Amino acid sequence: MSIVLVGFMGVGKTTIGKLLSEHYDRPLVDIDTYIVEITQLPIPQIFENFGEAYFRDLEYKALQKWIGKDVIISTGGGIIESELSKDILKDNLNTFWLKCDIEILFNRINHDNNRPNARGKSLNELKTLYSKRELSYNEIAYKHIDASRPEEVVASEIIESL
Ligand code: S3P
Repeated sequence: MSIVLVGFMGVGKTTIGKLLSEHYDRPLVDIDTYIVEITQLPIPQIFENFGEAYFRDLEYKALQKWIGKDVIISTGGGIIESELSKDILKDNLNTFWLKCDIEILFNRINHDNNRPNARGKSLNELKTLYSKRELSYNEIAYKHIDASRPEEVVASEIIESL
């Protein structure tokens, strides 16, 4: 069964995914990286050229391809914007929600030009997005992990819970 990591931008999904991948000796599928590879376009370019809905569809198709395989899947923070992706994630028992305060995440993501949904946003705007998405993460993930701690601690807690 796949181990899937969900959570807001900047929470450490990819880094923790790498630690899990090393521990279990299973490939890491980073959905963002996979999409960049198949489209040969950087994420901001996909948003600009084709719109966010198109990107959400690519995420859904990538999730469909990888879910259920023996891999670690690191998702993009907005994957839960798609009801179709949410349904897939809900059915996967090992979906972990990495949680961290938005104030901490804001400092990590607000200067990042590679994240169209964070670029130029104020703390208040991101708080609104975070509150809305929290409901969805909560809906689909059976396991919640405090990701404000060092990455090794977070990865160990996931490993112990499996
Ligand atoms: C997004 C998060 C990003 C990436 C894209 C959209 C979002 O992934 O998928 O920029 O809407 O939250 P990370 O969570 O890895 O930053």
